[in-house]
Amino acid sequence: MTSNSKIGIGFIGAGWMGTTLMQRIIEHQNGEIIALHQRSEKNARESLLNLGLSQELYCKDYSEMLDNPKVDAVFLCSPNSSHGPQSIAAMNANKHIFCEKPCSTSYSDYQKQLELAKSKPHLITYVNYLMNFDSMEKRICEMVKDQQFGKITQIQVNYRHPINISGNKSWKLRSEIMGDAIGMGIIHAISVMLNIMDANNTKPVSVYATKNEDSTRGFETAPIYNIMINFNNGAAGFCFGNVDLANGYDAYHNIHGTEGGLIFDSYLDRPNKIRFWSNKTTDGKWIYPLDPTRCPTETLWPKDTTTPDSGDVVKHQTGACVNHFLDCIIEGKASFLSFENSASTAELGWAALKSANSGQVVRIK
Ligand SMILES: NC(=O)c1ccc[n+]([C@@H]2O[C@H](COP(=O)([O-])OP(=O)(O)OC[C@H]3O[C@@H](n4cnc5c(N)ncnc54)[C@H](O)[C@@H]3O)[C@@H](O)[C@H]2O)c1
Repeated sequence: MTSNSKIGIGFIGAGWMGTTLMQRIIEHQNGEIIALHQRSEKNARESLLNLGLSQELYCKDYSEMLDNPKVDAVFLCSPNSSHGPQSIAAMNANKHIFCEKPCSTSYSDYQKQLELAKSKPHLITYVNYLMNFDSMEKRICEMVKDQQFGKITQIQVNYRHPINISGNKSWKLRSEIMGDAIGMGIIHAISVMLNIMDANNTKPVSVYATKNEDSTRGFETAPIYNIMINFNNGAAGFCFGNVDLANGYDAYHNIHGTEGGLIFDSYLDRPNKIRFWSNKTTDGKWIYPLDPTRCPTETLWPKDTTTPDSGDVVKHQTGACVNHFLDCIIEGKASFLSFENSASTAELGWAALKSANSGQVVRIK
């Protein structure tokens, strides 16, 4: 804890995502950045200046940051291949962990993370599958729990958007740093799909995935574009991803159930983006919950409903995820996206990778 009883934060990697999250921490009344570590000292100092933070916060040595008793939690926004080793070191030093996705690029590090998290239940861990913080996603899960769609039989969630690889972002082309294909955005689609299906009391049992072997724009890792998931009640899910041939940002959802359905299309204008029908709440008719002219008042969604429709992290729900993580520390409660609680997403990612590499259906443990 800091002298003013705030949660002391050691921050790693003030890049594109990192500076956005740092800004959200600065805005939070219970968090304080105690130290910033990253490889490029020059860039770190520039970020500290831009954020109005003291130059004294720069910490050249990560282990020195972990030795600092004022650091309660570590935020990891470094490139993907560092997430595993840096989170393991932080948990060994008894620090709470906010980890950017993917949680690890190595299966053995992922297993170590889980073992450590299990053996240190007092530590709050969190993987930033932040699409779950759009209020649309929360509302969909509530509707699913309320049986408004009945049994979901088919579901599709896309995650397509181009990755910025210009300048110092070119590390994203290199497989040794980017990790395998599953470290790319499609893991977000898997995460929200599993949360929706979990609300429908359904678990994944197997996966079949394919990837495009022609690397585009020089990605050393061929991205996984198509994932088909089978659930234990016979339902099927599709996740489509793309990092190059995307026309803007696409997080399309299509949910089809025995009692209703929902379509979200991020490309459409706001009143048309979401439509749903339910035998329980709309008399089986399609309604547009963001448009008062095409929706009865009782099923209208609030005006401030947020939807995932931008690839720009500044427009993502970064405030909500930072608040959630810090609240979990304050209240001493595990996050629904802790290493353990989000393990189903990571496991599905590893299984999809195995399937894409082998051409075989892979069963989920
Ligand atoms: N959850 C999301 O929606 C989302 C969105 C964007 C990025 N991300 C994740 O955030 C992470 C960073 O991505 P970005 O786009 O901000 O990249 P970036 O290149 O802009 O930033 C990476 C930062 O890490 C620093 N760095 C490099 N090597 C390091 C090391 N070994 N130790 C410590 N710091 C190091 C760099 O100096 C830079 O500040 C990635 O893992 C990415 O997957 C997540």
